[in-house]
Amino acid sequence: MALTAGKRARPKATLSNKNSGIVWSEASFKEYLEDPQGKMPGTKMIFSDKNEKEVADLWAYLKQFGADGKKKSQ
Ligand code: HEM
Repeated sequence: MALTAGKRARPKATLSNKNSGIVWSEASFKEYLEDPQGKMPGTKMIFSDKNEKEVADLWAYLKQFGADGKKKSQ
């Protein structure tokens, strides 16, 4: 995906997001969604999704798109 946490058109992103240094990948996305505050202490996101199938489906959806938001040709 090559998007860096907290860096994209989101002026209110907390410093914990901005300073996390995370570049979103399948592994970091899945860890974050399962436990946002464990992965990124201080983040404002408190929703977590522990349903592996759901998280896998979300990743499958997101990976259709490039960092520019456009659908990748397959
Ligand atoms: C499946 C659903 C969700 C996904 C995939 C998701 C994913 C993410 C990701 C990847 C970020 C980090 C963005 C970045 O900094 O690059 C984020 C931030 C955030 N999310 Fe979620 N999220 C979901 C649902 C929710 C829900 C339901 C809420 C609130 C009830 C929420 C509240 C937030 C907030 C407030 C932030 C900003 C955190 C900060 O700047 O500290 N999210 N989300």
